[in-house]
Amino acid sequence: MPKLALFIKEKQGVWEVGTKDIQTPGEGELLVKIEATALNPVDWKIQKYGFFIEEYPAILGTDSAGTVAALGKGVTGFAVGDKVFHQGWFTNDKATFQQYTIVPAEITAKLPSNISLDEAASIPLGLATAALGLYGAVVPQGQGGLGLTPPWEDAGRGKYAGKPILILGGATSVGQFVIQLAKLSGFSPIIATASLKHTSFLKSLGVDHVIDRKIPLSELTSQLESFTKAPLEVVYDTVSFPETQKAGYSALARGGSIVLVLSSQIEVDASANKTIAYVFGTVHAPSNRAAGVSLYSKLTSLIEKGELKPNRVEVLPNGLAGIPDGLKRLELDQISGQKLIARPQETA
Ligand SMILES: NC(=O)c1ccc[n+]([C@@H]2O[C@H](COP(=O)([O-])OP(=O)(O)OC[C@H]3O[C@@H](n4cnc5c(N)ncnc54)[C@H](OP(=O)(O)O)[C@@H]3O)[C@@H](O)[C@H]2O)c1
Repeated sequence: MPKLALFIKEKQGVWEVGTKDIQTPGEGELLVKIEATALNPVDWKIQKYGFFIEEYPAILGTDSAGTVAALGKGVTGFAVGDKVFHQGWFTNDKATFQQYTIVPAEITAKLPSNISLDEAASIPLGLATAALGLYGAVVPQGQGGLGLTPPWEDAGRGKYAGKPILILGGATSVGQFVIQLAKLSGFSPIIATASLKHTSFLKSLGVDHVIDRKIPLSELTSQLESFTKAPLEVVYDTVSFPETQKAGYSALARGGSIVLVLSSQIEVDASANKTIAYVFGTVHAPSNRAAGVSLYSKLTSLIEKGELKPNRVEVLPNGLAGIPDGLKRLELDQISGQKLIARPQETA
């Protein structure tokens, strides 16, 4: 049965709503009717620069919340009609700028009772990127994380008590999840750069100190030293512009580690013995699957207990057709401290 999807017809082509047949879920998979999907920077970057995807027409989008519409063979723990949320992937069967998508059940979470479907759609990519950067496997020369013990496992809860962490870009979607995970991991103090208007919001997520992101980065280390004398062993740079990477790397103590969300532009100082991890923020990747399955097994409960909160959301009009204008606002840096959400079923 044909349903609607938002396509890029050819590499760097325009966005266009069109029809696509609903797929049948394979073994271990769910068919999800998408009620809410989130917009992410990677979506406009792929359309504008033409990297990463080779098969067109292509559907993008990697965040979904909706209702289970069919179960593949062997699926247990889910029923048709369950409300769920999950990360999508950049293939036309698993992307989320469409009305129906397919997802492996083992990386799908049931919607907790205390958040809406719109809020749930703000979680998957941002949280995966935050979590896999801190707790994902260390992959020398490849994309990976710092290999810390995750706080959704008993051994990881509070494990890093007394260690400071610096988050560059605390108000980004990824940054909001890094803050919350750092809190569960026990990091202290948690220090983030952000626009100062976000201070009380970021403190509600667990930040101890906000540094104005507009200060010259040359002043970063002296600001940090006013908040902690402990060696800075972990920096998470959710911005990863060349200048933030450089500032984060130089703020680290000897032997410390920095997580980047974009490829490294850092001039490595071998004598400082610092680690650089470039995260691949998807639980769909085989290298991240085990960590993703572990995270998704605890996700509903983490949210229900208020230990993880979704991003604040703005819902866009016109369903899938409203996504291109929203992506343009993301590209123009007009979105501050919240996630844009589209409702595919509301496409005219
Ligand atoms: N490697 C991966 O797998 C992966 C996965 C996900 C995302 N990413 C990348 O990660 C980056 C962040 O994604 P996102 O979705 O979290 O972004 P986002 O929420 O769209 O980012 C918007 C925020 O960026 C903040 N910001 C911009 N420049 C800043 C600076 N110089 N210092 C501090 N904050 C700054 C703004 O903060 P204020 O409101 O405080 O001004 C704004 O709130 C993007 O480049 C994205 O492509 C990579």
